[in-house]
Parts: sequence; structure tokens; C-alpha cells
Amino acid sequence: MRDFELTQYLNEKSKSILQLGASTGGFIETYQQKGWSVLGYDYSPISIKLMLEKNIPARLVNLNALNSESNSLIYKDLLQNDMQKYCNIFMFRVLNYLDMKAQTYLLHLIISNSLPGTVFFIGDQFDESKGYENAFPETKRNFKTSFFAPRTDMEFLLNTTVHLNIESHNRKDELIVIRKRG
Ligand SMILES: C[S@@+](CC[C@H](N)C(=O)[O-])C[C@H]1O[C@@H](n2cnc3c(N)ncnc32)[C@H](O)[C@@H]1O
Repeated sequence: MRDFELTQYLNEKSKSILQLGASTGGFIETYQQKGWSVLGYDYSPISIKLMLEKNIPARLVNLNALNSESNSLIYKDLLQNDMQKYCNIFMFRVLNYLDMKAQTYLLHLIISNSLPGTVFFIGDQFDESKGYENAFPETKRNFKTSFFAPRTDMEFLLNTTVHLNIESHNRKDELIVIRKRG
């Protein structure tokens, strides 16, 4: 069981989850089986194929893709539209794979365009002895939190360290759960 820490924080009103970097859909499929509406984004065609084979709705999206002329995310309109339908957003072990510009634009976009009541779940794996995976700089440890913390319309529900995935016992995840008020 790997969602035991999450279930209590979900916005249950519309029973919907959008996962960015969904891989093969391991997190969202358990909710889909319970009747939730789910959608997974990933940039791996194999991940998309495997999700679709399990009848999990999925979109092939490279979260790093920027439109250089307008300095924005190529998938901006798509994500803005999806955020009107999904009131829980999972980002587990994906933001650290993005470059800083894409990560910044993505966090701004989801914070500004999400519906009131949306709950964001952000988890990134780290090794206490080595610091963040992918050499994510120590000085940036509070980077994600800093997008939400100054905003009065955001409420921190959880900021902790957990094992998001029982298969990787030696690696913990820093997990933040934030709700947009309203
Ligand atoms: C470490 S895996 C985590 C998978 C899942 N979120 C979990 O926690 O078990 C990272 C996932 O993010 C996806 N990913 C990495 N970079 C991405 C990008 N630029 N755009 C979309 N997906 C990306 C990978 O394909 C992979 O499925």
C-alpha cells in the first residue's frame, strides 16, 4: 500500500486526479478502480502505451517543452484545460527531472490556473546521505515550497518525509501537500 499517506488529503468532491509524470499509472490506477476520474501525463511513449492498455487515460506530453518565442510551456493550453477537470494534482518524482525554467513555468501555471479547492501533492526522492537525486542542488531544497508559501490562497496540509514507494526502501521522499483555498 503506498497511498496511505495521501488518501486523507484528497479533494473528494469531484473524485479526480491528474498525475504529471505518471509512468505506467501505478498511483492513479488504484483510484480509477475505485471509480475516480484520472489522467496521466508522461513523455515516454512506452508509459503512455502501457497506461492506455490498462484503460487509464493518458497524454504524451514533454513537461520540459518550451515555446521559445513566447517564453511559455508548449502544453500550456492543454494543461490549463485539464486543470478545470481534475482537482487533485500528483507530481511524484518528476519535477527534479525538469530544467529550472520549465519547472518554474509549470509551478506558476498550476498555481494560477487551478480551481479553488485543488490539492497539489509534490514528492521528490532523496537520499539523506547524498542529497537530492539528479544532483538537485541543496540550496534548492525549498525551491518548490517557496512557490506556494508566500501565497495567502494556499494552505499547507503536509510537509514531511515518507516512503512513497514501498519498492524503494532505502530512498525516502520529501512530500508536500498543499490546498488552494476556496
Ligand atoms: C522516477 S519516475 C517516477 C514515476 C512515478 N511518478 C512514481 O513516483 O512512481 C519519473 C517519471 O517522470 C517521467 N518524466 C521525466 N521527465 C519528463 C518530462 N520531461 N515530461 C514528462 N514526463 C517526464 C518519466 O517518464 C517517468 O515516468
